[in-house]
Amino acid sequence: MASISDWIKKVQEFNPSNLQELEEFRLQYLSKKGLMTELFAAMKTIEPAQRKSYGQEVNQLKQLVESRYSELKLKFEDGADSASNKVDISLNGESMPLGSHHPISIVRNRIIEIFSRIGYSVSEGPEIEDDWHNFSALNFPPEHPARDMQDTFFVEKDPDIALRTHTSSVQVRVMENSKPPIRTISPGRVYRNEAISARAHCFFHQVEGLLIDTNVSFADLKQTLLFFAKEMFGAETKIRLRPSYFPFTEPSAEMDISCTICGGKGCNVCKYSGWVEIMGCGMVDPQVLENCKIDSDIYTGFAFGMGIERIAMLKYTVNDLRHFSENDVRLLKQYSGLS
Ligand code: DAH
Repeated sequence: MASISDWIKKVQEFNPSNLQELEEFRLQYLSKKGLMTELFAAMKTIEPAQRKSYGQEVNQLKQLVESRYSELKLKFEDGADSASNKVDISLNGESMPLGSHHPISIVRNRIIEIFSRIGYSVSEGPEIEDDWHNFSALNFPPEHPARDMQDTFFVEKDPDIALRTHTSSVQVRVMENSKPPIRTISPGRVYRNEAISARAHCFFHQVEGLLIDTNVSFADLKQTLLFFAKEMFGAETKIRLRPSYFPFTEPSAEMDISCTICGGKGCNVCKYSGWVEIMGCGMVDPQVLENCKIDSDIYTGFAFGMGIERIAMLKYTVNDLRHFSENDVRLLKQYSGLS
């Protein structure tokens, strides 16, 4: 049998890793049939002369076992306790940060909503487009600068496949695939081979509009765009149309709205002119209708195209186009309340 000092050493070194081991320790030493009972019972077999010191040693061991046991028990319970104490169910939960709509999405959705109220559907087309839909059907002559590598990202040459440079390509697809009356808008991303700056980007977003029917006039175009401008920028907004040129419309115009910042008085956003340009538009060129198998003797139509970034910059007074594609949450968060 091990000597008492061996037991003392053992107890001192005892280091259980869980409550189960501690319980085994208790049973081994302190239960009715445990070591302590055994050692006390052995007292009567000890020589009377040594009985006193033996008794003292056994008592010392017993005290050690008991204090070690309660100390370890406390440690385990404390550990378990403190783990559960960490969950204070009265505290507010950690809130999950909610995402927000991107300003470009907000403006795009608003444009769709405004036009859908006057009967426009939404049509979409591919971002990788062939020469016919992006250029030829829209009357771009072969030598037109937009067909230059410097302006357009080509995916393949001969036959030419490119990233669409405008959403006007979708109007060709719609005209080819449906019969008038047509009333649709086409939002989407477009690409241009441009150096990135505060005012230009190699990709941005446009919304194309197209209306084809009998007896459509320039006055219809003007009223439609006036309605849009007032809905988008406020009832006091004025518009003006300046003659312009696009290969696919005749006559063509550029539309300005009264400056949203100064209301037309003149500021640095409108370069002190009181007006800011927001889109191109015009009557669909009869040749374009014919290219898309629509009889230009029966039908006329108008088209318009605007940059979503441009509208968003005016609406939210953002002065650098790059903010829209950098995904800085500090900028995006400002739009979380809007939709
Ligand atoms: N596609 C033109 C551009 O990207 C915008 C445009 C101008 C679209 C006149 C039209 C339009 O439908 O009639 O600059």
